[in-house]
Amino acid sequence: MKEEKTKNKKNDKNKVIIFDTTLRDGEQSPGFSMNIDEKLHFTSQLIKLGVDVIEAGFPIASQGDFDAVQRIAKASKGVIIAGLARANDKDVDTAWDAIKQAERPRIHTFISSSDIHIIHQFKKDRPTVLKEAVAAVARAKSYTKDVEFSPMDASRSDKDYLIQMISAVIDAGATTVNIPDTVGYAIPSEFYDLIRYIFDNVKNVDKAVISVHCHNDLGLAVANALAAVQAGARQIECTVNGIGERAGNTSLEEVVMAIRTRKDLYNVFTDINTNQILATSKLLTHITGVSVQPNKAIVGANAFAHESGIHQDGLLKNAFTYEIMKPEDVGIAKSTLVLGKHSGRHAVVDRLKKLGYKLSQEELDRFFKYFKDLADKKKEIFDEDLEVIIWESIYKEEGRYMVSNVQISTGMFSPPMAMVTIKDKTLNSEDKFDVAHGNGGVDAGVKAVMEITDTKARIESFNLVAITGGSDALAEVSVTVVEEYDGKQLTAFGNGINIDVSIAGILSFVDALNKLEYMKKKNGNNR
Ligand code: KIV
Ligand code: ZN
Repeated sequence: MKEEKTKNKKNDKNKVIIFDTTLRDGEQSPGFSMNIDEKLHFTSQLIKLGVDVIEAGFPIASQGDFDAVQRIAKASKGVIIAGLARANDKDVDTAWDAIKQAERPRIHTFISSSDIHIIHQFKKDRPTVLKEAVAAVARAKSYTKDVEFSPMDASRSDKDYLIQMISAVIDAGATTVNIPDTVGYAIPSEFYDLIRYIFDNVKNVDKAVISVHCHNDLGLAVANALAAVQAGARQIECTVNGIGERAGNTSLEEVVMAIRTRKDLYNVFTDINTNQILATSKLLTHITGVSVQPNKAIVGANAFAHESGIHQDGLLKNAFTYEIMKPEDVGIAKSTLVLGKHSGRHAVVDRLKKLGYKLSQEELDRFFKYFKDLADKKKEIFDEDLEVIIWESIYKEEGRYMVSNVQISTGMFSPPMAMVTIKDKTLNSEDKFDVAHGNGGVDAGVKAVMEITDTKARIESFNLVAITGGSDALAEVSVTVVEEYDGKQLTAFGNGINIDVSIAGILSFVDALNKLEYMKKKNGNNR
């Protein structure tokens, strides 16, 4: 049933066959090699993605390549498995040996068609190469009906010789003829013309699918492949994340999403399950350890992340204002609005609402002053930063406790003692004081504060830095304080600065207690 569906679509003149060569052209580039298990794992993801052809490797290249292609061929159902072979008997026979157990095997054989390669690399002549091309296709055809032929360096070949070669290999049985821009030299208008020239001049062109294989040396692989589709090509050879020789190949995700997003223009389709795109890209990254750049189209971390204020404002009103594709279509849960210095009020207010804050106009003004200051120093503002800004800009002055005095006495032979006086705003700012002993001034002071505030909070970490130099240095203490509240654990950070280390410690503890009070209030009221 599935086979039928694929066949029907394959016959549809508007279907573009997606030929994935990540495991062959992609894998042969430095840093992207995979072991057999990894190749098998990746193959099953390519099948989920819905590619039509998987070029599993170049079986003559090494025993490892042969084994991998053979295992993939045996294990993969529904999809065409191609093995690459140069145009000679040994390569073709080896490729066949490796793929013959596939449900749908394809031999892909190639030879150069440009004089640059024929004369300077292979020291041959055009008639010899033509004969070898035809012989390789005929031999492949004796094994399988599905034979692909590539005239390597086609984009730099003499056009009439190319036409002669394409006609001859189709006569010999090639069912797909792939036109490679091997060195990434072509530009889109020129590549379009080349494909049109083939359609107009190869007499038996209707007997084969015309395919393209573009390299990205000038950053034009995707553009060239799309131009070829407009000229009539119906197979694209591509790789996940665009990996491949040198600057890589046509990127599968980019070409597929361009065809889908601009179907108004191309009027063709692929059978790719686009919602598997991100998972496939991530799997490849995971296997090879090579990540894509953040601004990579479709699968980069920033591909659906918006920071500019104007864009965020538009997106919140209607996603199509600045998003030509839906993130869910490529398997991304949703677009992200990155808060930073370019963000406008609308996006920030929206995030605050989601966090449970409804601020008045005057509170928002105070909030934004802090927000902009922080965004100038920090690239990305996270939810935790927003909470701190809210605290600093709005609630800090409303903190429940205010330290009005601390007196510490300590000596080598007398136990440290602290007397702390605190105003509690919930008790009409009445002064309350306590005296406590401890293991050092901070410990004594914290104990006194705990008595006064009757808190169950405890210090989890204590950090001290001298902010200025010399014996009169200002000390800054940061503490992390936790408290169980309403079945949850609340955590607050406190800061205190004083010329005396012990006093800085006590101030930081009270600062953290104020934040805990604020969190408790917010839990009850705001959310
Ligand atoms: O780039 C190229 O020409 C190739 C061929 C083997 C198709 O990879
Ligand atoms: Zn290539």
